Amino acid sequence: MSEQTNSDKNSAGRIIALALVFSIGYAVVRYHIVGTVPWKDFPFFILNKGISLAAFILITCNFGFGPLNNLGVKVPAGWLNARKALGMTGFLLVLIHALMSFMLFTPAVYSKFFEADGTLTLLAGLSMLGGVLAFVVLWAYNLSFQTHLREDRSFIQFITSRKFLLWAMVLGAVHLIFMGYQGWMTPSGWRGGIPPISMVAIAFFVVGYAVNLLGRK
Ligand code: HEM
Repeated sequence: MSEQTNSDKNSAGRIIALALVFSIGYAVVRYHIVGTVPWKDFPFFILNKGISLAAFILITCNFGFGPLNNLGVKVPAGWLNARKALGMTGFLLVLIHALMSFMLFTPAVYSKFFEADGTLTLLAGLSMLGGVLAFVVLWAYNLSFQTHLREDRSFIQFITSRKFLLWAMVLGAVHLIFMGYQGWMTPSGWRGGIPPISMVAIAFFVVGYAVNLLGRK
């Protein structure tokens, strides 16, 4: 049997499976097993939370592995080769998350995002603005790998530049911070003492952002 060379190795399947199992598992434990959310809400409301966390983790890996390698941490070849598939899968999961969120977005489901008169609170408005802008930016980033745009060198240079990526990541954080920071500050209110999903995602963001800030050329 022939040896696999570094350029053949690709761990995308394993990383994607791990991110999905961890994220959906976390949502199930927090909301169904420790929490009291009925199982009938698993297929949409709770799955949406798991999918959004998996998307966040995969996109952080996509942006983070290269800069981490630049910092001298020996990132395995299979992880570096997985970056494109991780970014693409993360983007598709965000698309699913956005579609599911649009369908769920009512005061009955998300009372904390709405005023008594049915309009959005300021924090919910800022959070959703961050989410929508992050989504559009990710879309543009993915588009940049399409062949006809690859020929537009200045567009590619801009969209893969350090400055653009650092700002794009901040939009994702804005989505999480305005949605979640009040809950992060009150551990006594966490279901079964388990941190909110938005807080787990921001932990990935902080590590991913620091790695990009220090290691991205
Ligand atoms: C059109 C764009 C988007 C919309 C409408 C949207 C909407 C929402 C909503 C309504 C929630 C609350 C979910 C819940 O608590 O059940 C949420 C949470 C979340 N979103 Fe988004 N989002 C968008 C884009 C994004 C993007 C680009 C990301 C980054 C990958 C993202 C990642 C997350 C994460 C990690 C959570 C935390 C889930 C939780 O705490 O339960 N979202 N989003």
